[in-house]
Amino acid sequence: IADTVKEEVLPQDEQDFDIELQKFAASVEATEGHKQRRIALLSKLSRVLQTNFPEEDIELTTFGSTESNLALRRSDVDICIQTHSRTSKLQTTCQLARLLHEEGLVNIVCIPRARVPIVKAWDPSLGIACDINLNNSLAKTNTAMIKACVEYDARIRPMALLIKHWAKCRKFNGTKGKGVLSSYTITCMLLNYLQLTDPPILPSMVALQQNDYCKPKVQLNEKSIGSLFIGFFEYYGYRFEYESYVISVKQGYLLSKKTKVWDSDQNNILCVEEPFNNMRNLANTANEMEVMGLRLEFQRAYQILKRSRDHAGLVETFREF
Ligand code: GTP
Ligand code: MG
Repeated sequence: IADTVKEEVLPQDEQDFDIELQKFAASVEATEGHKQRRIALLSKLSRVLQTNFPEEDIELTTFGSTESNLALRRSDVDICIQTHSRTSKLQTTCQLARLLHEEGLVNIVCIPRARVPIVKAWDPSLGIACDINLNNSLAKTNTAMIKACVEYDARIRPMALLIKHWAKCRKFNGTKGKGVLSSYTITCMLLNYLQLTDPPILPSMVALQQNDYCKPKVQLNEKSIGSLFIGFFEYYGYRFEYESYVISVKQGYLLSKKTKVWDSDQNNILCVEEPFNNMRNLANTANEMEVMGLRLEFQRAYQILKRSRDHAGLVETFREF
């Protein structure tokens, strides 16, 4: 018996497609310029808060893709403002919206009655969009989870970047939050697919946390990025049973809609459990027609990539409409 395990070498065509995918992912990820603009926006906001609330201890942090290392060129900056006192003078997102307006930001949309009240805005002088919330610490926790998952295996990051980009190109992830699914939701769908792949690429979130988010010693799955990427579209296009199951990144497997008593609500056509609040369905924004459309999009991407695992196939998959 050999005492060393021979590493599987991928066939040349699979290696070529992986290189192509990685190049594509690099072409959509946020640039150094995006990072600089993000930093400039943060210091602008920090100055505005200090000027308007000089006595207060107000903390500004970023979360979302800029922290999980999944930012695209077209990503917004997700910002959390934490006021550390209950008597803070900054109490509402509408107040914040006024300050942003005075500072020259435009396209300001205030959503005060959302589950997490936010303000969306565009900074024309920096050319960057932001989503700002007040005192929502859950977002930092789930961003840390996404980050740990992305770091778990080098194949995950390019796939996640490409799938988020695909969702934007195919218009079911809107820039103004009008999309059928958020980037976060579709990222959770990818993570669960990787947990269910045989052998799994990613453990359950529970296992990851127990292991203190440590990297694995052995990775039993040596599939190419390309075959996993195509497999993702095939899985959600043809195999996943939308009617019966709930996607759970926390557990790393599928839960039954019936057991969760999520089967009788018409907002639960596609079910993606929020890992840190298992009462919440992240995909309750998608109605029956939209889920059907989404499924057809997965099928479309699969059919294209099955035929042409090359640059032309990727261009077609990501074609904007
Ligand atoms: P891009 O901005 O498109 O690059 O995507 P993103 O990866 O930043 O994701 P998105 O903007 O959709 O969400 C940013 C962060 O907000 C996520 O990392 C989550 O922490 C949080 N978030 C987004 N949507 C939800 C939601 O529906 N529920 C909860 N609990 N958190 C959410
Ligand atoms: Mg974001």
